[in-house]
Amino acid sequence: MSEPSPPRGLWASRTGFVLAAAGSAVGLGNVWRFPYITGENGGGLFVLIYLACILLIGLPVMIAEIMIGRAAQRSTVSAFKNLAGPRTPWRALGGLGVVVAFLILSFYSVVAGWTIHYTLLSLRGLLGGRTPEEIQALFGGLYTSVPLNLVWTLAFLALTMAVVGRGVRNGLERWSRIMMPGLLVLLLVLLARATTMDGFGPAFGFVFGLHADSLTGGGVIEAMGHSFFTLSLGMGGLLTYGSYLRRDADVPLMSVGIAGLDTLIALLACLVIFPITFSYGIEPAEGAGLIFTSVPIAFAQMPAGGVLATIFFALMVVAALTSSISMLEVATAYFIDEKGWSRSRATWISGLTISALAIPSALSGATDLFGPRFASLAGRSWFELVADLASNWSLPIGGMGMALFVAWRLPAALRREQFASGSRFARGYAGWLIALRYVVPLAMLAVFGRAVGVF
Ligand code: PHE
Repeated sequence: MSEPSPPRGLWASRTGFVLAAAGSAVGLGNVWRFPYITGENGGGLFVLIYLACILLIGLPVMIAEIMIGRAAQRSTVSAFKNLAGPRTPWRALGGLGVVVAFLILSFYSVVAGWTIHYTLLSLRGLLGGRTPEEIQALFGGLYTSVPLNLVWTLAFLALTMAVVGRGVRNGLERWSRIMMPGLLVLLLVLLARATTMDGFGPAFGFVFGLHADSLTGGGVIEAMGHSFFTLSLGMGGLLTYGSYLRRDADVPLMSVGIAGLDTLIALLACLVIFPITFSYGIEPAEGAGLIFTSVPIAFAQMPAGGVLATIFFALMVVAALTSSISMLEVATAYFIDEKGWSRSRATWISGLTISALAIPSALSGATDLFGPRFASLAGRSWFELVADLASNWSLPIGGMGMALFVAWRLPAALRREQFASGSRFARGYAGWLIALRYVVPLAMLAVFGRAVGVF
């Protein structure tokens, strides 16, 4: 971690940016969070609203966010100053992003720690030959354990710091290259298995059938918030990656590719997980442990299941890592660009601060030791509270700010040139601008207004 503040590292290859941005997008949000909130919100209609949010809100905002970084060639806060003047109020958006990066990483690393634990469990053969009940109990044991949560959360953060400390080119591109194809293949293997289960039909109906019974107003917010979370929007992560992007890149085309891949993986994860829950009588609304209590059951009954389970959880660790890197990079790039710190100093200080913040989240399940009130505020655990605040509120607000900035503040000529020059989607410019100017803010005001009870 000794590089001095580097010149702006451009991606080594044309695919470098796409890999890193897709690596940021594809993560625990797809395989862990999306299935579990789909389960909690009753499937079907929730999935449809989520897909609409990706297309009408997420995609236009993604193009806008990457564009800000590329136009300014700076990370979050500096980018707004560079484009709108040193005292511009828009720079608050960059500041919000840095704070949100800290918050998200503080709970994300807890779940990522669980994936490390499960990788090692399956490596040692401890997931095989167990009954579905035993597999469920296993997760309960992990969730409430103080030492396991602390050790794996902090180990994961250390791993993230090691990669970010090495800088954008060495660190990021390499990891993303292996993870995505591997994850896709394994999900397809699991899907093949899932189609032979009794629960496949009901599971398919659950995910794609339109039944509105259990969707609440909170569920709509969650669908929207998750569309930001899963695409890594609103925090400045893609903005920062975009700042390392060459001028001739086709941003709309890349965004369509990244959002499409991300959505594909999320839907595949559902089609793998719900057939298991329906076949074995596990509650779809079982909560944050869903993937850890369902997927091992499928592997336990497959030939070479032990090896495949190890690979699957290891890929989840890598998928989590390529996402967590983009969170820490937001904070690190801010301290490098704004405060003139060296990369290693910026990485250490942000990483250690996040580690301290992660401890209450890591201990959220440990109610036996501390009593139920220790980690809970207003009836929810610290973990749930931070996750809700960061992904359902802060990311959409940050993303809406960026949409408004690009739509109303960026000079029209620059905006058009950034969107259209060399892009295969150049003709989509007008539609995109309408989405940014009207659809995104109005949809979000409706959702937020509803959530706080205005109407
Ligand atoms: N998109 C990542 C995931 O799906 C999480 C993430 C959120 C990453 C916000 C960066 C910023 O797991």
